[in-house]
Amino acid sequence: MKNILVVGGAGYIGSHTVLELFEANYNPIVLDNFINSNENVIERIKKITGKNVTYYKGSFQSSELLDKINKQHKIDGVIHFAAHKAVGESVENPLKYYDNNVAGFISLLDYLKNNDIKRMVFSSSAAVYGEPDKSIVNEETICLPTSPYGWSKYMDEIIIRDICKSDIKFQAIALRYFNVVGAHPSGLIGELPSGKPQNLLPIIIQSLKGKLPKLTVFGNDYPTKDGTCERDYIHVVDLAKAHVSAINKLFNSDINYDVINIGTGKSNSVLELISTFEKINNIEVPYHIGKRRPGDPAAYYASVDKAKGILGWQSSKTVEDAVRDAWNWQLTLDKE
Ligand code: WQD
Repeated sequence: MKNILVVGGAGYIGSHTVLELFEANYNPIVLDNFINSNENVIERIKKITGKNVTYYKGSFQSSELLDKINKQHKIDGVIHFAAHKAVGESVENPLKYYDNNVAGFISLLDYLKNNDIKRMVFSSSAAVYGEPDKSIVNEETICLPTSPYGWSKYMDEIIIRDICKSDIKFQAIALRYFNVVGAHPSGLIGELPSGKPQNLLPIIIQSLKGKLPKLTVFGNDYPTKDGTCERDYIHVVDLAKAHVSAINKLFNSDINYDVINIGTGKSNSVLELISTFEKINNIEVPYHIGKRRPGDPAAYYASVDKAKGILGWQSSKTVEDAVRDAWNWQLTLDKE
């Protein structure tokens, strides 16, 4: 069984990926500092899988800790999730983002290189594209991020690319996620936004719970089907499976470096997401139309041909599944 170090494995996408790694007969080892996650996630993964989860609490920038883990488990590959991800915060505090997401990442890569660990799946983002000029975005689309967050992901991609170039035995795949939504269908794990949520679906949910004011839809005068922005909403369980496909690819091919979009290939408008939420969960979502949010592209979605061709992966869940699972997860939190 291959040992996969999952850095940030207790977080939203990391925890779902740990489940899928177990399912695919890998041995995931979680490393997390639990700053943006809760230690009880580990128990929940145990509950869902019936398996013991090996985990370490601490910083991925500590070579002592990485050494301890590697001596104990002999790491075969790494999936790196641990990063700051709030776009707005990154504009206000860019150094925080470059320090953790880039400088911290370099120290992790340094450890891997010095210890002959040569396989990595990297969590990247459609944020690297910035404001694409065509709504269908493929991996050749020019990358011009519009925030320090997006730049930090793009810089990381370039760093990995160059490491792979310098050592053909180093294999890495960067997955560029589109808009990640949903939760595990068990209702046991999901997103735990720390502080004020930044993304549409968590904002809808928290406004329904009275934790946030009524939802503002940012503009309805875009050149789209109903005037509101369109995005490619990808279910977190599908996204987690894409990581397993990428890890499989690294072990079963001589791929050196590649970047791959992970989305559904379809887009939904803000109003469509709201009405799907209302229909599936049988609850009204109060909202009002506000001003456009600066920097919001009107519409974009992933070209998914490369994911299909290289990883043999495609999404299978729907936006209906995502809004049901996200609400169900909220109901679990309510009971706690
Ligand atoms: C979705 C849609 C908003 C809130 C961001 C990052 C991107 C990636 C995913 C990490 C947009 C509208 C939102 C609200 C609204 N992150 N909206 N009212 O901006 O598409 O992408 O998250 O890698 O890099 O930029 O996601 O969830 O903020 O917005 O009308 O209160 O919902 O205008 O059309 P976005 P989002």
